[in-house]
Amino acid sequence: MRRDHTVGRLTVLTLVAAATAAVTALVTARRAARRPDGGNSTPDMARLRAEVREQNLRSRLQELDTAKTDFMSTVSHELRTPLTSISGYVELLLDGEAGELNDGQAKMLDVIVRNSRRLRDLIEEMLILSKIESGAFSALREPVDLVAFVERALAEIAPAAAKAEVGLRTEVRGPLPLHADPGQLDRVLMNLLSNAVKFTPGAGTVGLLARREDDEIVLRVTDTGMGIPAEEQKALFTRFFRASNAVRQAVPGTGLGLAIVGTVVDNHGGRIVVESVEGAGTTVTIRLPAA
Ligand SMILES: Nc1ncnc2c1ncn2[C@@H]1O[C@H](COP(=O)(O)OP(=O)(O)OP(=O)(O)O)[C@@H](O)[C@H]1O
Ligand SMILES: [Mg+2]
Repeated sequence: MRRDHTVGRLTVLTLVAAATAAVTALVTARRAARRPDGGNSTPDMARLRAEVREQNLRSRLQELDTAKTDFMSTVSHELRTPLTSISGYVELLLDGEAGELNDGQAKMLDVIVRNSRRLRDLIEEMLILSKIESGAFSALREPVDLVAFVERALAEIAPAAAKAEVGLRTEVRGPLPLHADPGQLDRVLMNLLSNAVKFTPGAGTVGLLARREDDEIVLRVTDTGMGIPAEEQKALFTRFFRASNAVRQAVPGTGLGLAIVGTVVDNHGGRIVVESVEGAGTTVTIRLPAA
């Protein structure tokens, strides 16, 4: 167990060190290529050499990126198997298969169930992210209408919004034709809506707007929630990032949702902009090319 952990850490450290070295070399090669004389008395040859070096480094970086994605995917798979066994046995215990439980024992098992579920969700998100990053999903493109997706997502989030006493306001103007991966589109909508509801206290409002603007389909989710501190907003799409106010207020989350959303939007040739004021609210706008 301990050994596996160390091997995993070492692999990550090796990948990070190699990536850093490759990026540094890439920057140096670029600088040399940009200098008027290429840092050499025979300008064309020097520039050519620098360009070849840059090309090699670029493919090395790509290899490292693939290795990192493979690593994440393997670790996620390996974690899933023992977790399934833990959850299965806990359920047997809760069902009284090993004898009647007293209240204290049942409560402890409930905590195990809750945390197993959190761990399962985290592993699931890591697997999805590594698959999306490896390009495994990017080939899938179907003609879809965003309207149907929005309606489904709203129906799915409505109970959570009602429970949190957050009002839902929608403005959807179809048709909204896209060429997209349906599963990924569902994921984007659910991630944005669940964030908006999760980070908005009771009596707040979450809004969803979807419409066509020229050649683009615009999807905008707004909320009147806690917002994101200005200096932290640049890290929003980094894996496992959680804003300090969310952590302070113990709002649950793993920080993978927006990393997934960002990658999916990128894969679909779209753009995403987040505007947020701490204590006032957040607006996330996605623009995707219309079909
Ligand atoms: N609508 C929002 N209002 C306020 N803060 C937000 C909002 N959306 C995202 N954030 C901040 O950005 C962080 C990253 O969001 P992200 O969706 O990636 O992670 P998460 O919701 O914490 O976890 P996960 O989506 O993986 O369950 C959040 O933890 C929160 O701090
Ligand atoms: Mg989220």
